[in-house]
Amino acid sequence: MKLSKRMQAMQSSPIRRLVPYADEARARGVKIYGLNVGQPDIETPSVFMDAIRNTEIKVLAYANSKGDPELIKATSDYYKRIGLPYEPEDIIITNGGSEALMWAFVAVADVGEEILVPEPFYTNYRSFSAPYSVTLKPITTYAENGFALPSEDEIVAKINDKTRAIALSNPGNPTGVVYTREEVELIAKIAKEHDLFIIADEVYREFAYEGLKATSFGEMTDVLDRVIIVDSVSKRFSACGARIGSLATKNKELPEQLLKLGQGRLCAPTLEMIGSTALYKLDPSYFDPIRQRYEERRDVLCDGLAAIDGVVCMKPMGAFYAIAKLPVKNAEDFAKWMLTDYTDNNETVMVAPVEDFYQTLGMGVDEVRVAYVLKVEDLKRAVEILDKALKVYPDRV
Ligand SMILES: Cc1ncc(COP(=O)(O)O)c(C=O)c1O
Repeated sequence: MKLSKRMQAMQSSPIRRLVPYADEARARGVKIYGLNVGQPDIETPSVFMDAIRNTEIKVLAYANSKGDPELIKATSDYYKRIGLPYEPEDIIITNGGSEALMWAFVAVADVGEEILVPEPFYTNYRSFSAPYSVTLKPITTYAENGFALPSEDEIVAKINDKTRAIALSNPGNPTGVVYTREEVELIAKIAKEHDLFIIADEVYREFAYEGLKATSFGEMTDVLDRVIIVDSVSKRFSACGARIGSLATKNKELPEQLLKLGQGRLCAPTLEMIGSTALYKLDPSYFDPIRQRYEERRDVLCDGLAAIDGVVCMKPMGAFYAIAKLPVKNAEDFAKWMLTDYTDNNETVMVAPVEDFYQTLGMGVDEVRVAYVLKVEDLKRAVEILDKALKVYPDRV
């Protein structure tokens, strides 16, 4: 017996592969401040559980493969409220944004074809492309200029006859970048001129700070037939465990084709679709205090990290992540050492090494991603621990 090469060639998630070390540390009684995963600590709105409690289901049956019609309608209404034109027939409900991304990648590219992605990118894009032998081609962006997109010429130079799409998250994970309207328009222009799809991962849409508003690709009216919007309740409503996401597109062929994948996996979870319907009916003012809370946390974490000797941390404008460049030779070794060898008063910090968020070898080796999803006191303590740890870390540069 042998396992497939493509499976063995897949990476394990750099966000999660240090978990066994964290489990061992916890078993030794160590308290860990988890800055590694984008798991918000904000309470899921009570309407979610209330809606589920109030259903009178006698048989927990399969739902429609396209999704519960009420959730589809609520999602469409949400889009309309924010000025996006998606009708119920344009929307398919998926098992999280993750399944939506996987389907989008499968739908637009065949074996050996390429999808352009600004790097660093959400590392699981690799897990969504590698099983289908689709290649991710990086457009490198840099912390020094806020992870802005490079020039049109530089992007176009990456396109060849195998290129099928550009995929990007906006606001971005792991960079926290919020692309300007000009950048979004540039991608739309390039996609139109080179006949590409745009896979627009907008799961952090509401999380843009300092009064900034993230421009959706759904606003790019002359390319809507090539835009695939990926969404999710995970981060938006702090409901990661619900596993409810969606795809929305004005492309006339795609919904029917995607439904084949939907029918193959039968349906998204019935109860969670009921809960998510209530979430999408929430008033948009729900986000105001939450956005404020994240902004405050961002300031605490980024200002704190930037004040540590040798650390570079640019303040991101969106999502709830930041990239910190550390004065260490290898950030993954440092992250592991924090779990296996270091404690301060029996406490330590877990961070995600960023190397595997880049496709280009050698990039991000001394960078970590931190998520500001903990309360302010915990973030302050995490910064204090990192500061002390870096002072005694043996492999410092
Ligand atoms: C940019 C981005 N897209 C998609 C996802 C997938 O989220 P989910 O499958 O929980 O909806 C995540 C999760 O962290 C993410 O950061």
